[in-house]
Amino acid sequence: MCGIVGYVGKQSCAPILIDGLRRLEYRGYDSAGLAVHDGTSLKVVRAVGKLRNLESEISQRPLAGSLGIGHTRWATHGRPSEINAHPHVAGKIAVIHNGIIENYLKLRARLVASGARIVSDTDTEIIAHLIDQHARRGLALEDAVRAALKEVEGAYAIVVISETETDKMVVAKNASPLVIGLGDNENFCASDIPALLQHTNRVIILEDGDMAVVTASRVAITTLEGKAIDRHTKAISWSPVMAEKAGYKHFMLKEIFEQPRAIEDTLRGRLDREHGEISGEEIGLSKQEIQDIQRIYLVACGTSYYAAMTGQYYFERLARIRSNLELASEFRGRDPVIGEGDLVVAISQSGETLDTLMAAKAAKEKGAKVISISNVIGSAIPRISDASFYTHAGPEIGVASTKCFTAQLSALLMLSIYIASHNGALEAKRVKSLIEGLARVPQQMREVLQGTRQLVVNLAKRYVEAKDVLFLGRGLNLPVALEGALKLKEISYVHAEGYAAGEMKHGPIALIDANLPVIVLVPDDDCRERTKSNLQEAKARGAKIIAVATEGDEEIHGMSDEVVEIPRTDNEFIPFLTVLPLQLYAYYVADFKGTDVDQPRNLAKTVTVE
Ligand code: G6P
Repeated sequence: MCGIVGYVGKQSCAPILIDGLRRLEYRGYDSAGLAVHDGTSLKVVRAVGKLRNLESEISQRPLAGSLGIGHTRWATHGRPSEINAHPHVAGKIAVIHNGIIENYLKLRARLVASGARIVSDTDTEIIAHLIDQHARRGLALEDAVRAALKEVEGAYAIVVISETETDKMVVAKNASPLVIGLGDNENFCASDIPALLQHTNRVIILEDGDMAVVTASRVAITTLEGKAIDRHTKAISWSPVMAEKAGYKHFMLKEIFEQPRAIEDTLRGRLDREHGEISGEEIGLSKQEIQDIQRIYLVACGTSYYAAMTGQYYFERLARIRSNLELASEFRGRDPVIGEGDLVVAISQSGETLDTLMAAKAAKEKGAKVISISNVIGSAIPRISDASFYTHAGPEIGVASTKCFTAQLSALLMLSIYIASHNGALEAKRVKSLIEGLARVPQQMREVLQGTRQLVVNLAKRYVEAKDVLFLGRGLNLPVALEGALKLKEISYVHAEGYAAGEMKHGPIALIDANLPVIVLVPDDDCRERTKSNLQEAKARGAKIIAVATEGDEEIHGMSDEVVEIPRTDNEFIPFLTVLPLQLYAYYVADFKGTDVDQPRNLAKTVTVE
């Protein structure tokens, strides 16, 4: 997830582009850059780190001109560095891009063979070179872009300018957002509306497969094939702050609803559905190394720890490898017996959590191999790891993690399927069906988010005054119960317990009275019968039962006060769905209480102390 912005008109564009990028920094902030046409040539300035670094570069080397593009980056291919920052230039072409090009390695090899000089590690530079090659054949900019995009597979929103065509930018989109802002004798484009609102509230929201030639006086939208399209102009009434949150009241709510997209981006280019395989180049383990794995240690903190707990289940059930779940803060101090043949999977959204970093380092020193799952390219934990398997959820702003949790589940599931298909634990047919199932998850998540939102709002309203809440789950839904309780605690300050349903009788059952809401995760999986008994035990003691169950489960309806339904799916995918109403429940309770949802008291997004 990156932020892109473009301008064509009469004003000096650099300040407009910088202002737009500032409003898009929530989309990424590891490096930034501008390319401006000064009337003779393209001038590019880029800088690593926050936008202020780019601003100070530009104050040294001012950029004059009224056609330009700007980008704030959240790395997906290639670590944050000046050379990997956008815009990328090839010949007379400059490109900014938000998205992930799936076939970029293949395209890169072809370009290199044909003599292109590729200097960065990014997928975006490939697009610049493809357009440049077509432009060299004499094609106009829009035709060169069109020809290049026919070769590209994946997600993109791009803005392209050329040294030889001083009056236009060419934009195109597929699966990444792009909007055009309409001014008076000037036009804009950006990833998102907040970047435009200072200048105009008239926008055209492009759809997948659209491309447009944007000049100061005209916006011509076509399909990739060149067929003209008419898109409505919308008048936006949001304030700039609302726009940054895409109209949601808080970043957390926006991020909850972003999860299907976050999973799609994390799966992108990694599910080879044609051959029924996971593409695992980044995993960096040879077949022999996989077969030699004796034990897996999953190490993490906080929400990432609950994702790790799901990972333990996946690695044992699918890959049949002994797996230990470890709190990073405990692991190191215990002086664990670990060494060669052990694989440590270090899971950290930020990639900077000190306890996880130290645990991973200690394991590496003892001879174990370390793979990290992180959302921040080039962060500390990936840097010390033998390999990194990134989530591509985009920056998470809400302190309470939501989209990174489900993105971590998808990465863990892919990793375990990959290992299972290389150590012979799973047959090809089963691998294929898991891959097909995983590809369906984002759509099922959309259905759950839309289908359960209003019911969950009502539940949160009804139980907002509850002093305690108990969450019960088994198997793959135990980590979800724990995560649901953590979410409620951290943002609404309500005491909540997540418990293994079967353990309730050994303690928490004493808490139950008529005032206690008990949220029971009882979907139709291989634990349903046993969890159902625990639900009845709680019910018999007067608890208010809110069940999260599979649609049409009349028996569960009959024994619960409320039922939140999820679609029927295989065991492995259920946590992706059951966690959604729990995130929404925590959010709405906190919102009704009026807490600071995005920055709850006493918490920090990244914890770099022991
Ligand atoms: C903090 C955050 C949590 C997060 C935990 C681990 O406590 O508030 O949301 O789950 O750190 O962070 P990590 O970046 O390592 O996943």
